[in-house]
Amino acid sequence: MADLLSARRSFLTLTDEAPSDADITRLVQACTSVADHKALRPWRVITLRGAARERMGEAIAGHMHGDVPGLTDPEQIEDARKLAAKPLRAPLLIALVHRAVRPPSVPEWEQIATAAGVGHYLSLLLHDEGWGVVWRTGPFVDMPAVATMHGLAAHERLLGWLYVGGIEPGDDKPRNRKIDAEHLITRLA
Ligand SMILES: Cc1cc2nc3c(=O)[nH]c(=O)nc-3n(C[C@H](O)[C@H](O)[C@H](O)COP(=O)(O)O)c2cc1C
Repeated sequence: MADLLSARRSFLTLTDEAPSDADITRLVQACTSVADHKALRPWRVITLRGAARERMGEAIAGHMHGDVPGLTDPEQIEDARKLAAKPLRAPLLIALVHRAVRPPSVPEWEQIATAAGVGHYLSLLLHDEGWGVVWRTGPFVDMPAVATMHGLAAHERLLGWLYVGGIEPGDDKPRNRKIDAEHLITRLA
């Protein structure tokens, strides 16, 4: 397990291969063991494939530029095109959602810690099964049009997306950046 964690890294460029819905169900099932104060299950995930990624891109571009088909400025048109293409960088996006349980019998930050834990668990599980993953957020997480496109309720918030796909041939090297853990440990006795 320590070797798996030490070798984990993000993959920014992904191929069109992706885990199946059955794979995702199996891995999300494993994530249900995440530590969860009062078992609130303050999270869910949403998978986006195919045209759903295009709708997300349209929501982002629409938030930034309004009526995109009506744009006439070439720079704005190009910017809208680039924004709309962002979700197309992976064949599968897994949106990580914090479902705020209110009134909060557990402080909201603890609920977010649980939901974020699912993101990390899922990243690791996908990595372990040979998939490339990168967790991305950006300003898109807080865009109302993006929330609507995902079908979020008022008490739900996006914590980002796991961009998931195949690993490019030749890009399968393990992590090479080493961080010295000693600097991150305080020992009280
Ligand atoms: C909550 C969260 C949000 C992130 N958002 C972004 C992002 O929007 N863009 C990005 O390039 N990296 C983002 N990252 C960082 C990458 O997922 C990744 O960790 C980083 O590129 C370093 O690569 P490594 O995971 O191989 O160390 C985010 C990470 C987390 C945990």
